[in-house]
Amino acid sequence: MYNITLFEGDGIGPEITNAVKKILEATGIKINWIPQLLGQKAFEVHNDVLPKEALESIEKTKIALKAPVTTPIGKGFRSVNVALRKHFDLYTNLRPTKSLPNTLSRYDDVDLVIVRENTEGLYIGIEKMHDDNNGADSIKRITRKATERIVRYAFEYARANNRKLVTCAHKANILKLSDGLFLDIFNEIKLEYPDIESNDRIIDNMCMQLVMYPNMYDVIVTSNLYGDILSDLVAGLTGGLGLLPGANIGSEYAVFEAVHGSAPDIAGKNIANPIALLLSSCMMLDHLKEFEVSNRIKKAVYKTLDEKKVLTRDLGGTSSTDEITNEIIKNL
Ligand code: NAI
Ligand code: MG
Repeated sequence: MYNITLFEGDGIGPEITNAVKKILEATGIKINWIPQLLGQKAFEVHNDVLPKEALESIEKTKIALKAPVTTPIGKGFRSVNVALRKHFDLYTNLRPTKSLPNTLSRYDDVDLVIVRENTEGLYIGIEKMHDDNNGADSIKRITRKATERIVRYAFEYARANNRKLVTCAHKANILKLSDGLFLDIFNEIKLEYPDIESNDRIIDNMCMQLVMYPNMYDVIVTSNLYGDILSDLVAGLTGGLGLLPGANIGSEYAVFEAVHGSAPDIAGKNIANPIALLLSSCMMLDHLKEFEVSNRIKKAVYKTLDEKKVLTRDLGGTSSTDEITNEIIKNL
């Protein structure tokens, strides 16, 4: 029996969480879900967007499955996602993407992993208005410690997963100090991994390259903001946000969540695609070394897409969240 902290999140969160719980239950794996609140809902109950109840639960379980939470734009509380990643030092955001059958993507041979630094960069949230309120500055922080460990993670991941190439995405031509340091450290550490090819791309060119030739890339290591943007770009290469899973991994704790947000535009309509969160739960099962269950779920997803009978709207179908959930269960 595994104890796992569960965040149902906002928007489509409760619908896709429910779907994932049902599918995992159908595999027979024994999980004791410990529901906790984050964000606006937590504020209403605990008067805190990141309540100590939630933090204590993760301290005990070490692992959480998290649906997306809504973050107010331009005002209101700071992102609880960023705060959670920082609190548990979840320094790696791992986002693997692989082409699946019958999506609305132009490609069928993409197989990429984004390794995003998850604790610093522009996401430290240090911003200041100018005295006349007619300007604002944001600080981008790149440190040797955080960069060394993320770059090393990328190369170790490549080695462990039989990947051939690690690409560093940066803007060191303009941000000579911060991105310059990131690139210098990449160039130092790559020497420790002569068995793995490496190269680097300036971030704007990286975007173009990914859209034109996605199969020329393998593992991409990058800082926080670029990793966030590249993740959604890469989701667009493999059928959209409804499919792309992710994990936030530190040395002691791990929080598994999809790349997508709370999708308020489709919330409560029973049309959200649960596959991204489901594949995130497969990353969680792999982390728990429950490879057999994880592979069974992945095969059922593949079969469901391949048969093309039951597809949600983001995949060009007309089926509901419940229908695709039941179909995946049937295919387990
Ligand atoms: P979003 O990822 O929620 O939605 C972008 C588009 O993709 C929308 O058209 C949405 O309907 C679609 N989409 C996303 N997930 C889908 C799914 N599972 N099935 C079908 N369609 C799906 O991004 P958006 O709209 O920019 O952000 C909404 C909210 O989510 C914001 O408050 C944002 O801060 C928050 N957010 C939270 C994240 C998290 O908790 N990890 C990550 C990203 C955004
Ligand atoms: Mg994002």
